[in-house]
Amino acid sequence: MSTTLSNINKQFGKFQALQDIDLTINEGEFLAILGPSGCGKTTLLRLLAGFESPTNGTIEIDQKEVANARKVTPPEQRNVSMVFQSFALWPHLNVREHIQFAMDHHRFVDLSWKEKGKIAERIEDVLHTVGLGDFEKRMPGELSGGQKQRVSLARAIAPEPKLLLMDEPLSNLDAELRMEMRHEIQKLHRLTKASILYVTHDQGEALAMADRIVVMNGGEIEQIGTPEEIYYHPVTPFVATFVGKANLFKGTWDECLFQHQGTGVTWEDYGISQQLKEKNLFPIRPEQIHLSKPVPSENQILGKVITRQFQGKEYHYSIEIDGTVIVAHLPLQEKFEIGETIAITPQFQTAKQAEMIL
Ligand SMILES: Nc1ncnc2c1ncn2[C@@H]1O[C@H](COP(=O)(O)OP(=O)(O)OP(=O)(O)O)[C@@H](O)[C@H]1O
Ligand SMILES: [Mg+2]
Repeated sequence: MSTTLSNINKQFGKFQALQDIDLTINEGEFLAILGPSGCGKTTLLRLLAGFESPTNGTIEIDQKEVANARKVTPPEQRNVSMVFQSFALWPHLNVREHIQFAMDHHRFVDLSWKEKGKIAERIEDVLHTVGLGDFEKRMPGELSGGQKQRVSLARAIAPEPKLLLMDEPLSNLDAELRMEMRHEIQKLHRLTKASILYVTHDQGEALAMADRIVVMNGGEIEQIGTPEEIYYHPVTPFVATFVGKANLFKGTWDECLFQHQGTGVTWEDYGISQQLKEKNLFPIRPEQIHLSKPVPSENQILGKVITRQFQGKEYHYSIEIDGTVIVAHLPLQEKFEIGETIAITPQFQTAKQAEMIL
């Protein structure tokens, strides 16, 4: 089952929350939507679930048009489940009853489960999957934020929907449980073969889990691509800085050669996007930067170490170059002191390797 949004626009009064969204979620695909707060991620999910109607454009699920500016199919008539950012639990139902309710009311629940009395078994399974086996009688008021989030997750996955919409489903969990649930969601994806649309503002989560990532900014899609493409070949300055925190060096592009503004140091193109070139930018990721003691006679980019943070397996430096600050991540053996003047040279092996795997 594939889902397609064509030219979707959504306005709240005069405010344009989504602009010209064209997107297809393929059958069985795990698609992450990544973007900063307020960029329209939840609005997009609510349109797909049927809680909002588009101002313009159409949505097709399984080749059936479910929404246009005049007519929308209600949520219960779409084979879709949603995990809400705000949990949206009912105060009068306990944990088990939440899942039971979803099973009873989801129109597309596998009917053979009902016939064979397998619903109870399915509820047990799902409770176990999300680690709430011992909490089935608890009311929402008696649960922590993370536990509520897991009820919301259990309720959505129990009926095995064909399209599962997840709005930051792990944001309230601690680091360990988050990793565990990442694996559970991936396992679930493999088992159910549902298409998943997974909203997050955590780039690590998107890169680790998704088949493709949609990067949004200000109600628009900036780039769609595999995690490798998004990480190593960002198309826009926003994607370059938002995913992987690239430093954007200014200079001038002449075909395949970049000349750094100020020093005239040149770097070769390794697949930098046209848009970045037109803006005369060269993105360099923190882990692509090499620092060394300056060699007096050489033309080098010089900077001053402003901060150094110990991060376990590496140091994170912030470095001032001509009034702008860049970030560099270096192995522990390469240690520089605050206030030290250092030379900056990029190393593009990772990008070149990435080019080979793309
Ligand atoms: N019902 C509404 N009426 C007016 N404005 C709205 C409404 N719902 C959302 N918005 C606005 O639309 C924009 C997008 O909101 P949305 O909830 O989709 O953002 P988001 O990307 O999910 O952000 P977050 O990461 O903070 O959850 C925001 O500026 C928000 O204030
Ligand atoms: Mg949101």
